[in-house]
Amino acid sequence: MRLEPIRDPSAKAVAGRSGAYLMLHNTSEVVTPDPQGQRIVRYPKGAVVFQDGRVVEVGNGADLLRRHGEARPINANGRLVTPGLVDCHTHMIFAGHRADELQRKLAGESYVKIAASGGGIQTTVRATAAERDDTLEKSLAGRLERWRAAGCTTVEVKSGYGVKPQAELRLLTLIRGAVQRVPVRVQRTALLLHALPKEFKDRRADYVQSMVDLLPEIRRRELATSVDAFCDPAAFTVDECRRVLVPARELGLGLRLHAEQLARSGGAQLAAELEALSADHLEKATEEDWAALAQSGTVGVLLPAAALTLGHKLPKASMLRRSGARVAVATDFNPGTAPAQSLLECAALATRLCGFTADEMLLSVTWNAAKALGLEAQVGHLNPGTWGDAVAWECETLEELPYWMPAVRPDCVFLRGADLALPALERRVWP
Ligand code: NIG
Ligand code: FE
Repeated sequence: MRLEPIRDPSAKAVAGRSGAYLMLHNTSEVVTPDPQGQRIVRYPKGAVVFQDGRVVEVGNGADLLRRHGEARPINANGRLVTPGLVDCHTHMIFAGHRADELQRKLAGESYVKIAASGGGIQTTVRATAAERDDTLEKSLAGRLERWRAAGCTTVEVKSGYGVKPQAELRLLTLIRGAVQRVPVRVQRTALLLHALPKEFKDRRADYVQSMVDLLPEIRRRELATSVDAFCDPAAFTVDECRRVLVPARELGLGLRLHAEQLARSGGAQLAAELEALSADHLEKATEEDWAALAQSGTVGVLLPAAALTLGHKLPKASMLRRSGARVAVATDFNPGTAPAQSLLECAALATRLCGFTADEMLLSVTWNAAKALGLEAQVGHLNPGTWGDAVAWECETLEELPYWMPAVRPDCVFLRGADLALPALERRVWP
């Protein structure tokens, strides 16, 4: 048996001064969720102290200056400081694009009809299969760089455009390779039920079983920390998803589910029943579905770019508040429904479409998104013991984050307390 160690960038030394004792000060305000993610705390003229890559204290700048006189000061030049953002749902490894499909959708053709005519996910599966390994790996690394430059220090990346078992393993291996190239925290997800290959049309059960059979290898080689499936009448049934998710859970993998996107089919209830980390999309979910997610502690992930592309409505903030569920917002970056390259811009859209407050918006892309990845003890807030992942933004107040479109850019991005150089020029996101 060949055991390969998990290559988590948080375990590797980041260029810069991550080992040092630093204080980020002279901010307009430091704004962070509290440790339990219950509310947003603001420290006007606040500061954050990092040591050995972790936050040791956050608070009033003058107080911290007195207590941490030895720390090397880093001047935030009067800017807003928040935790690094967390994009908890992307399909970042793929080749090509499907710009033509947007035109077809806008002309009235449905997503399901385009897929049934041989387009949709299968188009990207073919383009990805035809692409060279090194090109896919490098383009994913370039995308991760772009996400970091937009303020994301933790990003989830799913496989899913392999579709055949060996092709999914190929993508998971390439994701692991790309992660080595870029100083971003990446959580890898095996999206094992995405679209049924044509040759399995009359053998659905065999296909599902072939994906179940991959689980031990994914676990043994630590190719992913969670498993996802597309639960929809146009994709896979609740029972088919359950057949993959239950053994995944037994192996200690986290669960997530694309649920109630095109139609309500019971995915949210399944996610709640299995205590999944997240249920994502939920455009067709009911208030009962949201209440079930609240009960199980499953984060509901909204994907405004996909909702806009497909002409779906997002839920209202008032209903979400009543449900008591935790809500995250993510890009869903993919070539079909969400060619969205800025998490903050997606959050700005969700703020308007749902009616979120600025505090709710920040929670949705920090603490709540970290919880959707099972990382809420480590990232998504700036409190003692968390990783020193932070952003100094080119603005002064939290309210400006969901306000500007295009979104506010980071001035500095810190990972484990290290101030990383940002790419001066961003490459295009497709090969
Ligand atoms: O999250 N819903 C399924 N998967 C993707 C879209 C995939 C595609 O169209 O390529 C999504 O929207
Ligand atoms: Fe998705």
